[in-house]
Amino acid sequence: MVLAMDNLETLQTDLIKPPKAKGLPLLGNLLDLVGDPINFLRTQHERHGDIFHVSALHKKYTVIAGVEANRFMSSEGRDNFSSQETWGDFVDKTDCPHLLIGSDGEAHSYQRKLLKPYFSKAAFKDRLPLLIEPIESTMKAIQSEDVVIGPFLRNLICKQIGMVLQRTAVSTEQSEAFMLAQNTYLKIYMLGKWPRILLLNPKFIFADIKTKRFSKQLIASNKARDKQQDNFVTYMDKVEEGRAEHPEWFTDGDVHGHTMLPFVGGVDPAGGTMSFVLYELLKNPELKQRITREIDANYSEGFPSFEAMDAMEDVKGLIYETLRLHPAGYALSRTAAKDFVFSGYKINKGDEMLVFGVANHFKEEYFAKPDVFDIERYREPRNEHKTRHAFAPFGRGPHTCVANKLAELQLTVNTIVMLRHVDMELLVPLDKLKKEFTPVPFVSENFKVRFTARAV
Ligand code: HEM
Repeated sequence: MVLAMDNLETLQTDLIKPPKAKGLPLLGNLLDLVGDPINFLRTQHERHGDIFHVSALHKKYTVIAGVEANRFMSSEGRDNFSSQETWGDFVDKTDCPHLLIGSDGEAHSYQRKLLKPYFSKAAFKDRLPLLIEPIESTMKAIQSEDVVIGPFLRNLICKQIGMVLQRTAVSTEQSEAFMLAQNTYLKIYMLGKWPRILLLNPKFIFADIKTKRFSKQLIASNKARDKQQDNFVTYMDKVEEGRAEHPEWFTDGDVHGHTMLPFVGGVDPAGGTMSFVLYELLKNPELKQRITREIDANYSEGFPSFEAMDAMEDVKGLIYETLRLHPAGYALSRTAAKDFVFSGYKINKGDEMLVFGVANHFKEEYFAKPDVFDIERYREPRNEHKTRHAFAPFGRGPHTCVANKLAELQLTVNTIVMLRHVDMELLVPLDKLKKEFTPVPFVSENFKVRFTARAV
């Protein structure tokens, strides 16, 4: 139950503290939060309910979870939470003070309004070939190849984002540089995990230079395009549009930040999720056969039409079930922007929060036999994901994933093209594969698969 502060006089909420997860002296819950945070938060949610405290060294977090947390994020998230503190150091050091993901209030709302139509599902219909090309050309060229899945998928997603948003080819070298540079910044300035001395690592320095060079060239080439002749609208066109209207929210640094934002926001979550799609298929040969049958039935004359792809229920079930059981955005970090009450407990302005909105993904009352991978849940008559606020792989509230439709399309396209063109053989025993948190969940680095051309 969520109450406004005006109604609080009679409640003694100040005195009652939320339950606390048991932890080790000094370390608190650090090891659990680093080792398998999804499982840890799931267990604590089952034990304590929709609000509890966790700690890591000297830091304390209030976790809110479940349907109530998602409802609260959606209806009152903008007023009660801030993202600025979470991203503060990162946006300072990378000099983009209004970066979408780290801003609140009007600057954030304006950017969302600007980008919403651009990222709608319909807007990708004409751009679908740009998403298909990077994976189709790669898969068609394969005869037999042993592939380490993590880097393969990160590169692929990077290339797709470059093409579909900028019509720009990103080389493997560039994609590796982006990931190294951005991950170093994120881990030092946002997650506080890595020491600052890593900024002196020559590999990081070269990666950073390459990334900045790409960013500069992208801005210049986007400006130089003849927009009378070329009616393709790029992501950077939208940024230029925003800058013309609100220069104060699009400083030079912000514009550079935008060149990288889709890569920072997209590569790890989409790459990590795709690694679990492949893992689930390789774990269950019958499931793989069933999905391949649906793909083959729709692919006889080349990649299916947008509408035919949209109607592929088995592929959709596979993608949704992977997003449910392996959610990339499992704990959203926020700071309380003011005092408020959640579920009878007072939250104080400045409290550090984690929103575990995917808690319901693992609850029997929303998803029958929640630990079973069941692609049938997402169709008539079950439609389990449609219970309001139960299914939240893309977050909730003002910062909910701006590119969720693109992400779903990417996962769908990649699954279809890969299963159509190659057979896959796992080169590592299944029980040697683990879920690793980077902090986004990925199948472990030893995930290696032999791709062999299919005779189709
Ligand atoms: C399976 C793939 C993906 C998942 C599961 C995912 C998940 C999420 C989640 C949970 C958030 C909310 C973060 C928060 O509230 O703190 C988010 C935000 C965001 N995502 Fe995604 N995402 C995916 C793919 C992508 C892709 C492909 C892109 C870009 C091309 C992208 C760009 C963004 C951006 C820019 C934000 C920040 C939005 C804002 O702050 O208003 N994401 N994503």
